[in-house]
Amino acid sequence: MNEKQIIDIETRYLANVFSKKPVVFTKGKGALLWDVNGREYVDCASSYGVAALGHCHPKIVAAVKAQAEQLITCHSCYYNDKRAEFIEKLVKITPRGLDKAFLSNSGAESVECAIKLARKATGKPEIIAVMGAFHGKTMGALSATWDKKYREPFLPLIPEIKHVAPDNADKIREAITDKTAAVLIEPIRGEGGIRVPPDGYLQAVREICSQKDVLLILDEVQTSFGRTGKLFGCQNWGVTPDVMCLAKPFAGGLPIGITVAKEDVMSTLKVGEHSTTFSGSPLVCAAGCASIDVLQEEKLADRAASNGKYFKAELEALALKHKIIKEIRGLGLMLGMELRYDVLGVILKTLGKGVVVLDAGRTVVRLLPPLVISKEQIDKAVAALDAALGEEEHERASSTVPN
Ligand SMILES: Cc1ncc(COP(=O)(O)O)c(C=O)c1O
Repeated sequence: MNEKQIIDIETRYLANVFSKKPVVFTKGKGALLWDVNGREYVDCASSYGVAALGHCHPKIVAAVKAQAEQLITCHSCYYNDKRAEFIEKLVKITPRGLDKAFLSNSGAESVECAIKLARKATGKPEIIAVMGAFHGKTMGALSATWDKKYREPFLPLIPEIKHVAPDNADKIREAITDKTAAVLIEPIRGEGGIRVPPDGYLQAVREICSQKDVLLILDEVQTSFGRTGKLFGCQNWGVTPDVMCLAKPFAGGLPIGITVAKEDVMSTLKVGEHSTTFSGSPLVCAAGCASIDVLQEEKLADRAASNGKYFKAELEALALKHKIIKEIRGLGLMLGMELRYDVLGVILKTLGKGVVVLDAGRTVVRLLPPLVISKEQIDKAVAALDAALGEEEHERASSTVPN
């Protein structure tokens, strides 16, 4: 099939719910992607953070091939060797005390489980989330997500989830009532614009939750697996939650969601109260084992820290040159470039120059490259952004339409 045929078929038969970009990717290796016409791209999106190990890492490919010949599916009502191996590897790297997990298939599902768990473990209904939060789009996760463009068409959502101003621990303290089960936050808000909290915030929220006997749920779907320079985002601030939501890169690109909790919290869920058919499938768990091995062997958190520093400094240099840039934010290889205008034009121009970047809301260019990205590839990405920003500024300066 050629490019046009592929686009026509997807357009005709798939639900029109994704903001499509005009490119057909058919191959990937490390931090590179190729389109159907054979053109090469530097990937600074990782499929929204999934391809943290790079595309088609040989150890993931080998693990998936071997397991596909052994056993692909095995419901969690039976035991399985790969599932056991994966869960043991996982709890060895999660922050201390978080050693009981539920396996699912997506980030939203990991949040669904956390919400049910909070209600079950505390016997209370209320969850406190923050304005600007993103936790997914299934009905429970959506109820904790903030943006009204995602929420409003689907009202009413589940009750007793309230949002307070972000990055202000006092607002959380004031919002907690005797009906509050949990506080649910992202350590760094991703979709909300790559917002790193002020120092002391996460520690203060942890303290408040402990004092008030409320569970702290951290949604680490985007901030974990080395992305911010630590294995888990919360480790940048020395904070351990009671429940943690994981997903995206934990199975090398195969679908996974993980809700990991303290034993006494997770054990409040009884047989039958939560499940999903695909929970902990051998194929996904084999990929998960290989992913954790690669993460550790290749010291990817350290690489994210050092390459992230380099990338951020290069972006800061661009900010001195381009007035259209308002601010550079982020930690490790979770970076954001806030523009003074809508970012779509810059994203498309950057794509045209062979570099894939994301948005995070209307005005932020989001960079979530594979953690294996090289300095040379970062340089290519920065050069493409530089050129795209220059063109965008030129267009805006010569346009008669006021912004
Ligand atoms: C912090 C956070 N939570 C939850 C989700 C939802 O994950 P999924 O799209 O896999 O359902 C995302 C997705 O981007 C996310 O960034």
